[in-house]
Amino acid sequence: MNTCSLQGKVALVTGASRGIGRAIAFALAQQGVIVVGTARSEETLQTVQHEIITVGGTFHCVVANLADPDSPKKIVDTTIAACGRLDILVNNAGIVAEGPLLEATVEEWDRLMAVNARAPFLLCKEAIPFMKAAGGGTILQIVSVIGVKAYVNQGIYTASKHALMGMSKVLAQEVQKDNIRVHTILPGGVATDMIAQVRPDLNPEELMQPEDIAEIVIFLLTHRSNAVIDDIHVRRANSSPWF
Ligand SMILES: NC(=O)c1ccc[n+]([C@@H]2O[C@H](COP(=O)([O-])OP(=O)(O)OC[C@H]3O[C@@H](n4cnc5c(N)ncnc54)[C@H](OP(=O)(O)O)[C@@H]3O)[C@@H](O)[C@H]2O)c1
Repeated sequence: MNTCSLQGKVALVTGASRGIGRAIAFALAQQGVIVVGTARSEETLQTVQHEIITVGGTFHCVVANLADPDSPKKIVDTTIAACGRLDILVNNAGIVAEGPLLEATVEEWDRLMAVNARAPFLLCKEAIPFMKAAGGGTILQIVSVIGVKAYVNQGIYTASKHALMGMSKVLAQEVQKDNIRVHTILPGGVATDMIAQVRPDLNPEELMQPEDIAEIVIFLLTHRSNAVIDDIHVRRANSSPWF
């Protein structure tokens, strides 16, 4: 397979302040990509910016709350104002909630759906016209194995990731003619704050690391040949194969 350079491309990464998103931002910057990173915490984003600039990369911070339906347009407009184009969108930001489904509140349902499903949809809607103008682009959706599986006590999280998965499958078909590829990545346990919250019983050293997911992102972006991988399911080594 031939590989292509990402030098000078512009990528928007949501949830870039911590965990998987931070690792993706670093990996992209190492490839010469101009990265725009978003999250709610300005301080944490600025730390990432400082660390990336220190190693010679480029990183712009956009502080935004993806629970707000107006944020996606503001984020994409800021990206275009700062960088002039948008080639790659990584919908990574996500939140989790735990508990029996029938005890969940409407507020929890709306919050998870807003951040995990609606925001990626709205970001795609805002970003795609700029990708079309540039002659193509790539959208990477950081879903979860729960996008196709169902875990007890994670009902709303499961529903939100199934929604993201379904939306991505349709979108991939609708933008294929525009040379825009939509990939879904479905990881199992990755050592981040999120997994520490829901699975404190798991040893972080036995989980995947955020950099493992970042490597998959770089693989998908640099192997843009006639061989297309729609989705990648990836699990930690000590979980059951094919489970
Ligand atoms: N860790 C895992 O085992 C695992 C497995 C499969 C899939 N995933 C998925 O991978 C993605 C990243 O997860 P992670 O484990 O890296 O999580 P994490 O460490 O908790 O980081 C979440 C990121 O999203 C941002 N974020 C959260 N709520 C936001 C909001 N309302 N508006 C804007 N940004 C928001 C956070 O920044 P602020 O808090 O500053 O806003 C942070 O940068 C998620 O979509 C998750 O569902 C994770």
